[in-house]
Amino acid sequence: MTPSVRDGASLVGRTEEGRRFAPPADLAAAANVTAAAYEQADADRLGFWAEQARRLTWATEPAETLDWSNPPFARWFADGELNVAYNCVDRHVEAGHGDRIALYFEGEPGDSRAISYAELKDEVSRAANALTELGVTQGDRVAVYLPMIPEAVVAMLACARIGAPHSVIFGGFSADAVASRIADADAKLVITADGGYRRGKPSALKPVVDAAVARTPQVERVLVVRRTGQDVAWDDTRDVWWQEIVGRQSAAHTPEPFGAEHPLFILYTSGTTGKPKGILHTSGGYLTQTGYTHHAVFDLKPETDVYWCTADIGWITGHSYIVYGPLANGATQVLYEGTPDTPHRGRFWEIVQKYGVTLLYTAPTAVRTFMKWGDDIPARFDLSSLRVLGSVGEPINPEAWVWYREHIGAGRAPVVDTWWQTETGAMMISPLPGVTVTKPGSAQVPLPGIAATVVDDEAREVPAGSDGYLVLTEPWPSMLRTVWGDDQRYLDTYWSRFPGRYFAGDGARKDEDGDIRLLGRVDDVMLVSGHNISTAEVESALVSHPEVAEAAVVGAADATTGQAVVAFVILRGSAEDGGRAGAGGPGLDAELRDHVGRTLGPIAKPRRILTVPELPKTRSGKIMRRLLRDIAENRELGDVTTLTDSSVMDLIRSGLPAAP
Ligand code: PRX
Repeated sequence: MTPSVRDGASLVGRTEEGRRFAPPADLAAAANVTAAAYEQADADRLGFWAEQARRLTWATEPAETLDWSNPPFARWFADGELNVAYNCVDRHVEAGHGDRIALYFEGEPGDSRAISYAELKDEVSRAANALTELGVTQGDRVAVYLPMIPEAVVAMLACARIGAPHSVIFGGFSADAVASRIADADAKLVITADGGYRRGKPSALKPVVDAAVARTPQVERVLVVRRTGQDVAWDDTRDVWWQEIVGRQSAAHTPEPFGAEHPLFILYTSGTTGKPKGILHTSGGYLTQTGYTHHAVFDLKPETDVYWCTADIGWITGHSYIVYGPLANGATQVLYEGTPDTPHRGRFWEIVQKYGVTLLYTAPTAVRTFMKWGDDIPARFDLSSLRVLGSVGEPINPEAWVWYREHIGAGRAPVVDTWWQTETGAMMISPLPGVTVTKPGSAQVPLPGIAATVVDDEAREVPAGSDGYLVLTEPWPSMLRTVWGDDQRYLDTYWSRFPGRYFAGDGARKDEDGDIRLLGRVDDVMLVSGHNISTAEVESALVSHPEVAEAAVVGAADATTGQAVVAFVILRGSAEDGGRAGAGGPGLDAELRDHVGRTLGPIAKPRRILTVPELPKTRSGKIMRRLLRDIAENRELGDVTTLTDSSVMDLIRSGLPAAP
């Protein structure tokens, strides 16, 4: 059985894939987690997670581990009570680590701030008091639309502290996307900034919120962090400066305990239909698994390590591995506002050198970009502090994996390729740096306490050496609890394809050793630079343009970004005038790209727009994206027999300009 997985094969180099790397002896000897963890978890999975939950500080210790009486609606540690922000901040201060640096903030223009755990506690407490003054109470939703500045971390923790679920919206999203997320979560307050720095310039955020809030009457107040000092429009009855209101609050705030299943946050992710899904995460199980996996997979030693995750706080990686996991563990970490090439292409390595970063977590698309920029750039910096290198967000091709290990990790630091999703909340499949003999480009093994396998179309486990679909076979503590406001969509999307098992939407190969290698999405979600973008969302943005009659979007393999958005559009009037394939012209292409950028945000802009007279459809009217991908990737066409009219493909091809 060969599922129609996105063709990652072009990225897979057979030579590098066969190499093996044992853990460094010194790391293995002192590793936080050893092979015994797998045995312990295999023998008693729930007992294993109950023990990991005790890494947290509970106001009421949970007696029950998992309630799975109403599957797939899980309740973990449900009779326990805790305060997530207390666990991430206060308890480290109480344990005598108040002077330890929590955040080394590095602004893009070069400004920097070191914030200790004691200072973070004060700031989170002040922000919690400010939210309370603004009328936010337990259970109210707060939208957060901020650049990568310390206030983003503080805002999230302040929400957690008062039991108000946050909904962080990535700073690159457009007003439409912000408005629809605010409306879906029914947020009453938005936290934003005047702007942030990107590529050497201030980039405004508040106008986007102003436009979004004009359409979301439920928003009562907008709290604005002053970051860039740029001019902003101001509504006196609604807007309030963060520095003013947070600045005048008391630093005393008593964190109230909430039930382990109290909602912690909603985070929207692209689905296979146009409407983003609000993924709901709760408190105790989420914090247990993010904390444990960060401790295990990065082998974090909080006294000596300096950790840096380069993700944005607007994505799940930022939630779980900048805010909750590392802070629950009392880590010292770098928070960087900007892009890797501002003001120069060695910026990341300069930061590693400056802070002596020991644990780095980044995305394959970044690694491939660094490879392209040249080996000589990282070679100019002292990277000898690095001891574990993480990868996340998309399959990492073996060449990039080996380059990361050789050129960033000095041929010594283990690469941990971590597979997980917004929905899983925390890492699920990953090597352990002190245990696993690693294979380039493979996430390999489910973490202790996690059960995953690869199945065929009939839900049968595939034999070693075969491809199929990745499924998770047991509930896990940080699993999504539902899709916000839409239990049915939760059931349909994740639990109906293979009853009783969680369907991740990814293709996977079970290799000869039984290890898991991820192959990419099998649904209509593209992974562009590790960001999930749904084909349906881009299509609906395109058809909202007056000149577009129909659109089909595919993710084409791209050596740097993993996939690139390629759009096939039929212009209005095409049919009547006999087909105007290729007639769009560069002016219209640019306009359509901008239109998508305005509607969804710049990350969703198509790389290429191809104007065509027809789209290939099956008899049931489904667009055959597989064939469009063949075109977009300049391949021979696959099987066209299910098309209504196979000459459509010739018609499409004949009208296209030569591939770039
Ligand atoms: O396709 C998988 C890919 O990213 C998807 C989840 O995207 P998102 O919810 O945005 O979370 C990204 C950060 C956790 C998955 O379904 N993915 C993520 N990590 C990997 C990966 N694919 C292969 N290898 C990975 N390590």
